[in-house]
Amino acid sequence: MEKPGNLIMVIFGASGDLTSRKLIPALFSLSVQKLLPGKFAVFGTGRTKMTDESFRAKMKESIFSFSEEKEISSIRADEFIRDLYYEPMDIAEPKSYRDLKNILDSLDKRYGTEGNIIFYLAVPPSGYQVIAENLAAAGLADESKGFRRFILEKPFGYDYESACSLNLLLHNLMKEEQIFRIDHYLGKETVQNLLVTRFANGIFEPLWNRNYIDRVEITSAESIGVSDRGSYYDSAGALRDMVQNHLLQMTGLTAMEPPSSLDPDAIRNEVLKVFQSFQPFNINEVEKQVIRGQYTASKIRGECITGYRFEKGVSRRSRTETYVAMKFYINNWRWGGVPFFVRTGKRLPTRVTEIVIHFKPTPHHLFLRNKEGIGGNQLILRIQPDEGILLKFDMKEPGSGFNVRNVAMDFHYKDLSDIRIPSAYERLLYDVMTGDSTLFSRDDEIETAWKFLSPVQKAWAERPEIKLYGYPAGTWGPESANSLIGGGNNTWRYPCRNMADEEVYCEL
Ligand code: BG6
Repeated sequence: MEKPGNLIMVIFGASGDLTSRKLIPALFSLSVQKLLPGKFAVFGTGRTKMTDESFRAKMKESIFSFSEEKEISSIRADEFIRDLYYEPMDIAEPKSYRDLKNILDSLDKRYGTEGNIIFYLAVPPSGYQVIAENLAAAGLADESKGFRRFILEKPFGYDYESACSLNLLLHNLMKEEQIFRIDHYLGKETVQNLLVTRFANGIFEPLWNRNYIDRVEITSAESIGVSDRGSYYDSAGALRDMVQNHLLQMTGLTAMEPPSSLDPDAIRNEVLKVFQSFQPFNINEVEKQVIRGQYTASKIRGECITGYRFEKGVSRRSRTETYVAMKFYINNWRWGGVPFFVRTGKRLPTRVTEIVIHFKPTPHHLFLRNKEGIGGNQLILRIQPDEGILLKFDMKEPGSGFNVRNVAMDFHYKDLSDIRIPSAYERLLYDVMTGDSTLFSRDDEIETAWKFLSPVQKAWAERPEIKLYGYPAGTWGPESANSLIGGGNNTWRYPCRNMADEEVYCEL
């Protein structure tokens, strides 16, 4: 990997959590790998008053607390923080942007960064418009002296209409190529590996279609609750927070056609085509395809767990969903008739993200199944934790007769001892520096994803009779989610079934 060209990175929201937990540790890791530009400085701004020195000290602490580097040398951390700067700023005040321009001009001269600037908007979405408009008004979106790139955190919009208005607003101020909309799941190594598994191997692709695949299941489960993000989460919910972005992007990469090249637009065009082929939900029948739930209080291994409505920042009468399970179809030649099942939730028994491809059974059952009757072929792409790939198939049990047992062929990334999996932010920040937008959501992808979910959002808002199921914290969500899959031996895959297994990703 090459060093990116020289640049300054400006972080709005530099006193916040994202900066300390993710951005600075990721930049530090890039510096350890010598993947930061030769001439590079970070200018942070936020509401909190801090000096350069106090900002540097805070960031050094965050490197020690959150960096994924195995060993951190204090000398290296000191070298890194030397190029961090901070000034508080009122983002609503146009004059502050003229001051910002002066500061950036002088940093540019001092560092020789050739006018190249990346602006990271690590602020709540309500801040996007005012920051983008003021930066543009101060001439800071103008690319005549160097590139100007803008990174926007999710959620991008609140629904289809607001996402379209935000795109329109940004397009009036800058070009689409300048905008990098973050979906950190796309930065995960295992999500990118979906492309490699599918398109670098000859054995999967011939089977990857409606003729051989029975159904596809995508799960992103979390064992944590909303922690201290209650007030944000209560206005978002699982559909906006996880489904619209992370889960649909994983669906896109699982279902897309092979791109003609690795060009960012070639890949994103194929993902977009998947989104455009989603069979629209019928607003009057949403409850048949989408189940929502909210966690209630429970006791896990002796510890009392607060119900969602009693979390800090959450309304006691909240109707916000912390769990969503849905079934939908992709109407195209590859996938017509194959159901996709997608679910996500907080306070489930374990943290796991996985994509399960369930292959069709053999047309004729020659052999008796083992007593559980569970078998057949599944390809499981484990996104996290214990990243890897698992292929399940039936095998003869040793001994007389032809008894069949389901076994697994299992690959774990951790077995590649020479490989370190970079954090998602490390990869994404590096890509913005090099101007590679492959792993960022394009305007039309985001709008199409929101449009697909629009009937669900409308049905939930307009039809209060649609149930919001309670589920005790530490369980796999509402029972009714099983009805989506259809019963019999067809159930969701439960990577760990019992609460006693909580936090243990146990296979087999
Ligand atoms: C974020 C959501 O985008 O993804 C969070 O806002 C969620 O609510 C997080 O916890 C999950 O990310 P990861 O990488 O831990 O799976």
